[in-house]
Amino acid sequence: MSQDAVDPSRRAWVGIACGAGALGGVAAAVPFVSSFAPSERAKAAGAPVEVDISSLKPGEMATVEWRGKPVWILRRTPEQVAELPKLDAKLADPDSKRKPDELTPEYARNKGRSRKPEYLVAVGICSHLGCSPSAKLAAGAQPGLPEDWHGGFFCPCHGSMFDLAGRVFKNVPAPDNLEVPPHMYLSDSKLLIGEDKKA
Ligand code: FES
Repeated sequence: MSQDAVDPSRRAWVGIACGAGALGGVAAAVPFVSSFAPSERAKAAGAPVEVDISSLKPGEMATVEWRGKPVWILRRTPEQVAELPKLDAKLADPDSKRKPDELTPEYARNKGRSRKPEYLVAVGICSHLGCSPSAKLAAGAQPGLPEDWHGGFFCPCHGSMFDLAGRVFKNVPAPDNLEVPPHMYLSDSKLLIGEDKKA
């Protein structure tokens, strides 16, 4: 299934997007993995959502629904992780100090805004007026983005930009970083979104 293909039984944004990937920037089609989609019952209840991330390859991103919101799971490549600390001067809140209780759980107050450096888990809703930004994961010049683009997310509504940790750039309409939802790893391949403490 391609990046834009949609299972009509699911919301339009539920799907899987392929990033720059490790194959020389060639985006590879990845089949939709049914476990990325939570059950209807779980969605209705706003319950935590368990996601099998075992098929997510470096450079790829999946989107799941949690409490009616799109949540991105991006598996960053080692190169993408290494770039994050170099972007600080361009970012409005590189150390996630704004609204920490609302936007960044304590365990994600680091450069990658994540529990594990390779995985970003973030709510895909712009902090300006609530559009869902587009994944622009590949680095390099491209229309509408800075020439030295390192990969990230672009909100087409009013031009806000976020890096691959969901950190907002300076001088854009969006005031804050993207929200990192509560989450925890049940195992190397199982991610739980919506809960971050063992019962
Ligand atoms: S809603 Fe994203 S820039 Fe305005």
